[in-house]
Amino acid sequence: MPTALITGITGQDGSYLADLLLSKGYQVVGMVRRTSTVTFERIAHIQDDVSIVQGDLHDQSSLVAMLEEYKPDEVYNLAAQSFVPVSWSQAVLTGEVTALGVTRLLETIRSVNPKIRFYQASSSEMFGKVMEVPQTEKTPFYPRSPYGVAKVYGHWITVNYRESYNLFAASGILFNHESPRRGLEFVTRKITDGVARIKMGLAKDLRLGNLDAQRDWGFAGDYVEAMWLMLQQDKPDDFVIGTGETHPVREFCEVAFGYAGLNYQDYVVQDTRFYRPAEVDLLISNPAKAARVLGWKPKVNFKQLAEMMVDADLKRIRNATI
Ligand code: NAP
Ligand code: GDD
Repeated sequence: MPTALITGITGQDGSYLADLLLSKGYQVVGMVRRTSTVTFERIAHIQDDVSIVQGDLHDQSSLVAMLEEYKPDEVYNLAAQSFVPVSWSQAVLTGEVTALGVTRLLETIRSVNPKIRFYQASSSEMFGKVMEVPQTEKTPFYPRSPYGVAKVYGHWITVNYRESYNLFAASGILFNHESPRRGLEFVTRKITDGVARIKMGLAKDLRLGNLDAQRDWGFAGDYVEAMWLMLQQDKPDDFVIGTGETHPVREFCEVAFGYAGLNYQDYVVQDTRFYRPAEVDLLISNPAKAARVLGWKPKVNFKQLAEMMVDADLKRIRNATI
């Protein structure tokens, strides 16, 4: 039975990846950082099936102890400070975790067991002010936030350790992916939570920032499959993962509110507090290489994703108000 270690198991992607790996018969080890309250909401349903280990990407010795004790065959590095706006207010922390954290983990793999297969969670935010439309594995990066800059570092250090030390280190350049488990501060979930609250009479409006930004949105459950596929190849490589479609935030509002029988124009208020110092205006992937090499294709489309998220938030808020 192979063993996989997931950093960031308590996050959106970590929880879906753990579900997937358990279904494939893996022994799953999840690294969690110490917090004063429990953050296991997304993995509550599998808590008895995974081994939880305390560790932090800031702390090298915790990483060494973890790899020595659990001896994973695969390591998926999903942990990060992942919320773009916070990367301006906590730029150094973002660099420490999202950038240098990758080096700490790679150094640990190199010294403890260089045969470990490593996945790095890279991001379409690296394309930022895009140099090419659509974006492929060869598109140059132009990050627009401290988060994007940190992810560029994480990507290149992964490539560098692959080339310098012959590690099996793959970088997945994933475009935005969402789900009912998405954090409430990200725009899709903020919208579907807002729709549910308005529908249930708990809120009167929804305050958002730039409605014209365009994103290539897919379903997180589909994207974790691509992560796993990358580590099953004969050689490590980099892959763009997305749907190949782009939609403005405004359209996500239209579909999500419309699905609940509401007109978004009656409720959405634009608020400059949610604008960013530098915006990423347009992201759209060309996932042809993933289709060709990995045989990967997304299964859930834009409308199905928005509706799935509205359904889940309506159910959650109805249950909470009973
Ligand atoms: P998420 O929900 O924000 O989860 C982030 C995870 O990282 C959480 O488990 C968090 O733990 C953990 N973490 C944060 N700082 C840590 C530290 N210092 N040490 C150890 N763990 C730490 O993010 P996600 O959406 O699942 O994304 C997973 C990864 O993919 C991230 O690296 C993200 O940057 C990247 N990515 C995401 C997308 C997307 O659209 N979702 C697209 C491209 C790339 P707590 O639960 O304790 O906070
Ligand atoms: N969060 C948020 N809140 N975003 C808003 C709002 C709002 O009220 N109003 C408009 N937006 C716009 C943002 O300006 C941005 O252009 C877009 O909605 C998407 O914002 P987020 O959902 O916060 O995601 P992101 O694209 O910045 O970053 C996510 O995707 C990256 C991959 O491209 C995160 O998951 C990153 O970790 C990930 O790497």
